[in-house]
Amino acid sequence: YNMTDIHITWHEHQVARQDRERLNGHRGCVIWLTGLSGSGKSTLANVLDHLLSQRGIRTAVLDGDNVRHGLNASPNLLRETHGATFAERFGLGFSAIDREENIRRIGAVAQLFCEAGIIALTAFISPYRLDRQRVRQSLREGDFIEVFVDTPLAVCEERDPKGLYKKARAGELKHFTGIDDPYEAPEAPELIVRSSGERTPEALAAQVIAYLVTRGILP
Ligand code: PPS
Repeated sequence: YNMTDIHITWHEHQVARQDRERLNGHRGCVIWLTGLSGSGKSTLANVLDHLLSQRGIRTAVLDGDNVRHGLNASPNLLRETHGATFAERFGLGFSAIDREENIRRIGAVAQLFCEAGIIALTAFISPYRLDRQRVRQSLREGDFIEVFVDTPLAVCEERDPKGLYKKARAGELKHFTGIDDPYEAPEAPELIVRSSGERTPEALAAQVIAYLVTRGILP
């Protein structure tokens, strides 16, 4: 078919975002965690999810490893179920362009949660500034809360929970973020949390929650 034949119209909804937010008792937003592999993004997202849920706040977690099993599955995973051509076209790996598409899709999903008045917690390396910037710009002013999980590479490498840094150093895993692939740290994130040293994930989560209260996102 001809691409110019594709007509899409945007439908306005009957239920406004404010109505959904009134029902929920808090605003929606996207808490975008970014940082190296092993920096503690997933742990922080899960602790935040737990603490916010306990306060009666509606949340949703989008996490790197989980999303890469479903929405953004790798070519290897898709080949089995959808065949080689489909897998080649829609499967995502870790090249710059695949990471770009990974972040674009996640941004679109996070936006849907946000518009439903839910707090979306995303935990992806998202190493490119431009990709994060695009998500920020796709959302309404104030909806994107960029949180830099600023754990030094040496600490991430020491933790190495999946043994991937070891593989990358040995040259068995190419294009690994922080080793032979870039990580562009945020220049003006809403928050920086440092997970090295004594600070527990609960302490970092408390820092994020305090920020949400000062911003009027949480009551
Ligand atoms: S990205 O850059 O935002 O698209 O990456 P993300 O979707 O967050 O996926 C990161 C997890 O995938 C594993 N992994 C890699 N990370 C970085 N570089 C390469 N080449 C790579 N290959 C596999 C790794 O386990 C990351 O997990 P986390 O949870 O971040 O430690």
